[in-house]
Amino acid sequence: MIELIFATNNDNKVREIRQALPEGFSIVSLREAGIFKEIPEPHPSLEANATEKSMVIYELSGKNCFSEDSGLEAEALDGAPGVRSARFADEEPEYTSNTDKLLALLRDKGNRKARFKTVISLIIDGKETLFEGLCSGTIAPAPLGTNGFGYDPVFIPEGSNKTFGQMTLEEKQEFSHRKKAVKKLVVYLTGLAGSKQV
Ligand code: IMP
Repeated sequence: MIELIFATNNDNKVREIRQALPEGFSIVSLREAGIFKEIPEPHPSLEANATEKSMVIYELSGKNCFSEDSGLEAEALDGAPGVRSARFADEEPEYTSNTDKLLALLRDKGNRKARFKTVISLIIDGKETLFEGLCSGTIAPAPLGTNGFGYDPVFIPEGSNKTFGQMTLEEKQEFSHRKKAVKKLVVYLTGLAGSKQV
């Protein structure tokens, strides 16, 4: 069994990543690991924030761990909200006001293309490896569906006519940026386990 701390307390992310992992992998959230620490996300890139989160937890726990940082990038807004996705409308993360602000900014734009990006930072024995997952799509004119979290009700992935908010978790996983990054993580960890370095 490969055991990792997942440096988050976001239950939605834990659920998605647990569901994406095959047998033989087990993850615990910060809360489940008894770590009660707010990790800031002060950097201008998803990569730098992911690295900081996993490094802080590795140094604190001494255990192999990973973190992820995700964001939604709208083409017509030069990649915004991007790294500011969680705090787009307000310093206090609030999903509804973030989607309202996004819809207001895109109201007069013809181009509604956007993509989700996930960066995972994995630390094994102090060594970091980064993995990326992308999901391209468009922003719906208005929120649809109540499943998922964050921008899910306004994001329609390429290849579907439903928003993530209208999909079950299983349906979302077919397209998910997070799932794509996790797949790369699993391939890497499986290789390490094969060579007995985990
Ligand atoms: P993070 O916790 O800093 O990675 O914040 C990422 C923010 O991006 C979240 O608070 C959501 O608003 C948004 N986000 C990331 N992934 C998703 C997703 O899969 N669906 C909807 N929104 C997401």
